[in-house]
Parts: sequence; C-alpha cells; structure tokens
Amino acid sequence: MFCRIFSAHVAGIEGVLIEVEVDTANVGLPSFSMVGLAEASVRESRDRVRSALKNMGFSIFNKPITINFAPADFRKEGTGFDLPVAVGLLKSAGHIEADTDKTLFIGELSLDGRLRPVSGVLSVTYAAREKGFDTVILPKENVAEASLVSGIRIGAAESLSEVLAWLGGNGGVSFAENTGAAQRKFSEQMHDFRDVKGQFTARRAAEVAAAGMHNILMIGPPGSGKTMIARRLPGILPHLDMEEAIETLKIHSVAGLVKNVSDISFERPFVSPHHTSSSVSIVGGTSRAKPGQVSIAHNGILFMDEFLEFNRSVLETLRQPMEDKEVTVARADRTVKYPASFMLVAACNPCPCGYYGDSKRECSCAPSQVQKYRARLSGPLLDRIDIHMEVKAVDLKELAGLDDGESSESMRERVINAHNAQKARFRDEKIMLNSQMGEKQIKKHCKLDDRSMKLLENACDRFGYSARAYSKILKVARTLADMENSSDIQSKHVLEALHYRLLDRES
Ligand SMILES: Nc1ncnc2c1ncn2[C@@H]1O[C@H](COP(=O)(O)OP(=O)(O)O)[C@@H](O)[C@H]1O
Ligand SMILES: [Mg+2]
Ligand SMILES: [Zn+2]
Repeated sequence: MFCRIFSAHVAGIEGVLIEVEVDTANVGLPSFSMVGLAEASVRESRDRVRSALKNMGFSIFNKPITINFAPADFRKEGTGFDLPVAVGLLKSAGHIEADTDKTLFIGELSLDGRLRPVSGVLSVTYAAREKGFDTVILPKENVAEASLVSGIRIGAAESLSEVLAWLGGNGGVSFAENTGAAQRKFSEQMHDFRDVKGQFTARRAAEVAAAGMHNILMIGPPGSGKTMIARRLPGILPHLDMEEAIETLKIHSVAGLVKNVSDISFERPFVSPHHTSSSVSIVGGTSRAKPGQVSIAHNGILFMDEFLEFNRSVLETLRQPMEDKEVTVARADRTVKYPASFMLVAACNPCPCGYYGDSKRECSCAPSQVQKYRARLSGPLLDRIDIHMEVKAVDLKELAGLDDGESSESMRERVINAHNAQKARFRDEKIMLNSQMGEKQIKKHCKLDDRSMKLLENACDRFGYSARAYSKILKVARTLADMENSSDIQSKHVLEALHYRLLDRES
C-alpha cells in the first residue's frame, strides 16, 4: 500500500516541506530501500527506524518496502525524518487509520523508540504554518522553540508509542500553549555603560558607532576598558524588531543554539570568537554546513578581541561576508547561504607590549616592531572599518573617585533616534543604516556645504586620506548629523568624523 507523510528539513535557514512516500509491495523478497537523494544521515535513519519498530514488536519488514523523499531534486539530510518514516511504514502496513494530511512529523528515533530532539524546528514550524498545516508533532525537547510560532498546534511526544496512541485517538501527545513570538524576554544582567567611568571620548565614539552600526576598532593598552565597552554595545542598540528577531532565531536554531524559550531574545546577538578560532568556525562550514560566528552575530555584534592575534587567513575570510552581508557555505556537494550582517567591533593593543603611547608606562618595543605591528592593521580589512578610536589608559584609583557614567538606557534613546532617522531616509532604498551606504547613496545623502567641503579637502591634503577613507568620513558625519536630527551635515560633524580616522593619520 502506498501512503504519504509530511515532514520538513532546513535548507540554509528556511524550512522546506518534504513528502515521505512509503510504498509497500504485497509480493517479493523482503527489502527496505530509501531513495530521493537521501544522504548518509538519512540512510542511517533506515537502521534506527527498523530497530525501533522491531523493538516495539512490529513485524512489517517481510515485504519489499521503498521510501521516497520528494521533491527528489535536492539533497536532504538530518535525523528528523525518522519519525515520519516510521509513521509512514505503520500507516502503510495498516496500523494507522487516522488522516495525517494536515500534520507534519519531525524527530529522531532512538533504537528503543524514544524521540530525540532535532535542530531547526523553528524554521520547520514556520514553514508548516505557511503551507497550511494545522499540527506539528515533534520531540518534547523541541516544543519550547517550536511554540514561538503562533497559529499552529504543537504536539509534543516522548516516543513513537505516544505518537501512535495519539493517532489512534488515545491521548499520548501533549499540546503546548503557543507562546508566540510576542513574549519578549530581556535578560536582566545586561552590562550597563553606567559602569564605565570617565572615558568620555571612547564612550562617545562607541555611541556614534552604535548610532550608524559602523564597524569600529578600539586601540588601547591592556586594562583600558576595551572589552568592557564592547560588551556594553548591545545594550545601547535598538532591540531587534519582530522580523529581525525571527531571522536571527532561525540561524541560532539551525546552529543548534536554541535550547529553551529563555534563549529567545530580542536583544542584539553579541558573539566573541576566540583569536585561535578557525576560518570555518568564523564563516561557517564543517561537515553539516553549519552557520559560523558571522551568521550567529547576524543583526548584532561580532566582537574580535585581540584582533591582531587572529590568523591572517581568518581575517581575510571576513572580507567577503562584510562586503556581501551574507556567506555562502560550500561543501563537496552543495552550497548554503546564511545571512551575515553584523557590526564588527575589533580591539587591539597599540603595540606588541601594549603600552605604546601610554603616559604612565613605558613601551618596551623597538620602533621597527611597533611599525610592523601597525602595518598588520592596514589593508583591505581596515578599509571596512569606519571608526578607529583610541582608548586611553585609566588610573583605577582615580576612577574610583568619579561618578557613575551615563546609563545605557539614556544612551540608547539617542541611538534609537538616530536609527529612526536613517530608516526614514532609506525608506525607499534597500538599506537601513548609514554604514550600509554605497557610493551612489553617499553622493545623494551626504552633500556638504562649502565650508565643510573645504574642511574635508584640507584634511585630505594634509593627511593623505584614501578615497575609501573619504567615504567613511562622510558616512560617519551623516550619522553624527542624524544624532542631532540635523538634515544637513555641518562642518562640526565632518570635524568629529575626521577624529575617528586615527590610523589613516598615522600612515
Ligand atoms: N572606565 C572605567 N571605569 C570603570 N572601570 C574600568 C574602566 N576601565 C577599566 N576598568 C576596569 O578595568 C577592568 C579591565 O578592563 P578591560 O575592559 O578588560 O580592559 P581591556 O579589554 O582594554 O584590556 C574592567 O573589568 C574594569 O573593572
Ligand atoms: Mg580586553
Ligand atoms: Zn610596546
């Protein structure tokens, strides 16, 4: 007998509907084959399903059985097809009579028939709802994540027996309350800028960077507060809107990072890979084409502390996602695209020993060492950083006497204001923020009056700024004007933007 059960898998971050077709012939030698470009992981499913059903006492493998995964024209993988395959086999053998056309099944089986969680159920549940299904049956551990999707029933089962009981009308599956994405959770322990005392210049630069989501590089001696400032940046950015939160969540789900509802957040991701990280962990890949740190940081911040300690090749691989705002993760037989639009926050010491330019401690590096170190900062990657800022050494004793800094909450108000001005400006364009402007948009939105133009030209003559640096200055000046609700870029905005090109001035 032929039957069809619905399931789904995740391609990139989107759930894709899969039909699991089971065909059992009445005559012929026993066999059990799976077709439809199923990869190794799907074929393994055959062994798990067979064991699970045998251990539950079903003897249905005495006939020729063919499983087909449709559509057949692209590769499917993952362990989530165990459950639909098992349900299909039982239905085809006459053990299930219920109508399953509006139900989507997903879950991995253990050899004794228990259900194990799978990754990507958020995307799958979305896809199921979009395609008009009214129920998704999945492993209990996946319920919290799936129930973020409203408008569809989420049934949790611990084992195949429970699914069978439910299909037979005897309870078994428990149905979760949909929390819907409306439940907005914010962590209480967000780091607050209040803790950063003094450091007005650095705080200001951080706020400007946040206001336009400009990539920023902080240079300063150890202990000057670079890491402290970076960690506080997510707290002054606007929260994710619904669409962004869902997109980010899908990526985290595919990366296997979503374990329970309290992981769901409307805060900006903050990802800080260690400087020993490989290119694959940064941009994605591995055997399952998993998203990398750049995608996990999507819509948020990628913080690269000890920037110059990263392998040169890792820094090189960052260029493509920074340019395209997405990454293509390739493996032998296919490619997957993941979004990767992030704000890069980099931090490094000013020299190998860390104290170059420090007023309190002497730098022990030879000038040639300092030069060589700085030279590593130049080049194409630095070209993609809008703001360079110096973080000066602090005297902790002196700091203790100072008042708390301004809170993140009041800084965020100004940042949100600037973001809103940008959204309004770019309403009819494909971008949302000043940092995303291309040459054409810079020309259109960053017009200077005579005085500002003169100022910028003089500075360029004097410091020899490149054309790229020139565009960055204009973009940051645009943000500075937006922070004051000024429709025009004024000379003071250009002047301040010039301050953020520290490294251009030196070379
Ligand atoms: N401006 C500041 N206000 C209050 N504490 C500070 C400040 N700057 C540094 N500190 C203290 O010094 C510690 C070291 O700062 P950190 O951010 O790790 O420095 P860096 O990353 O530049 O090496 C912080 O955890 C904090 O306790
Ligand atoms: Mg640090
Ligand atoms: Zn030094």
